[in-house]
Amino acid sequence: MDAIIITGNGPLKGETFASGAKNAALPILASSLLAEGRHTFRNVPGLADVATMLKVLQMMGCDAERLTGKKKYVCEVEVGPKVTPEAPYELVKTMRASVLVLGPLVARWGRARVSMPGGCAIGARPIDQHLKGLQALGAEIELTEGYVEARAKRLKGGTVTFDLITVTGTENVMMAATLAKGRTVIENAAREPEVEELARVLNKMGAHVTGAGSDIITIDGVDTLRPVDHAIIPDRIEAGTLLVAAAITGGNVLVREAVPEHLEHVIAKLREAGCKVTAEPEGIRCIGPSRIKAVDIKTKEHPGFPTDMQAQLMALLSTAHGTSVITENIFENRFMHVAELARMGADIQVQGATAVVRGRERLSGAPVMATDLRASASLVLAGLKAEGKTTVSRVYHLDRGYERLEKKLRGLGANIRRVKG
Ligand code: EPU
Repeated sequence: MDAIIITGNGPLKGETFASGAKNAALPILASSLLAEGRHTFRNVPGLADVATMLKVLQMMGCDAERLTGKKKYVCEVEVGPKVTPEAPYELVKTMRASVLVLGPLVARWGRARVSMPGGCAIGARPIDQHLKGLQALGAEIELTEGYVEARAKRLKGGTVTFDLITVTGTENVMMAATLAKGRTVIENAAREPEVEELARVLNKMGAHVTGAGSDIITIDGVDTLRPVDHAIIPDRIEAGTLLVAAAITGGNVLVREAVPEHLEHVIAKLREAGCKVTAEPEGIRCIGPSRIKAVDIKTKEHPGFPTDMQAQLMALLSTAHGTSVITENIFENRFMHVAELARMGADIQVQGATAVVRGRERLSGAPVMATDLRASASLVLAGLKAEGKTTVSRVYHLDRGYERLEKKLRGLGANIRRVKG
């Protein structure tokens, strides 16, 4: 297993860029099942999770591949006249987002058999809302042998009111509704930029989706959809992580492609913490102060502060002057990085959904490991600030969502390398 070795060496400086958004690419790749023919997706990040989604599509009989050479950010998916509408446990257990094929399969192919994802490191993460939404559109759902079996001759539009806000649940129902007969209204919908991006792609395919980005999305079903050629938006979480790398080292970094409107709360918190953050024509620049100030953070669905940036901000605030309070409102177990940050000298007390972070002037390098993607990123960030050597193992978590993070950080002057294990 690969590891990443970092030796803190002061301020990062220069320019880097945000790759395509993982959490936009995954539903968009799944949406290809809605239309027969050859789809072309551009700016698709080179991530383990994207490879898993391509594998899911291949197992269904689609010709799904990443091109090579200069076209390595292009994925082509050819959907033929037949698919095997099944996502097996072996793949779903490695990536929960595989469940995004459920909506498209039942809408276009009348049947889906998808393994139940089960819990994961950050929480139980049930999919009851996805199922409730599909049932509201007329799908018959059965749970057998760990699989969800969904059937419908043709889905019918209906009103879906989510009990809580769910990103992939909104995406699944939105995709399913594009081919349903009549109008679907999704109430209490997720408002994330990735939901808006999926709606853009569906509309390019010929769907009629309005309201994405607000909490009410309306979809007027059509009979067929056509393949698309689409370039995916930049990854706001990767961009945010790179901004924190500038902040924690007291550096000066321009993250090209980063979209300020996608990161409003993150930018606001970085400013409150004493960073100078500016929107520039090419992206976002962050200049870190000599010492970060403590700030309080509460995660919330978009447009609130993203849970996917909580671990990274915790690393930053571990080095702040003063005490910060971080409240995690989305996932019940997303503080797995706390014990590892403590190994680097951070002073963090957790009680329930709240972490009290008493900032320390110094962190010290240590061997650490993480159990999820964003937790791994937070350890890399802490390593940039720490004195001495930090070895982050289980880097496969990082590779699920960051394309060669160490390469981008090295380009900014960090002393960081990957060792093959
Ligand atoms: N929930 C339910 N029932 C459901 C669906 C969700 O109880 O049917 C609960 C979850 O357990 C959680 C909350 O609702 O407590 C929100 O979960 P949501 O469904 O919004 O999460 P998700 O769609 O599974 C996406 C991202 C995550 C990100 C969350 C929250 C993708 C592929 N994944 O997950 O990304 O943390 O939204 O913003 O879009 C990551 O990239 O590191 C990552 C985990």
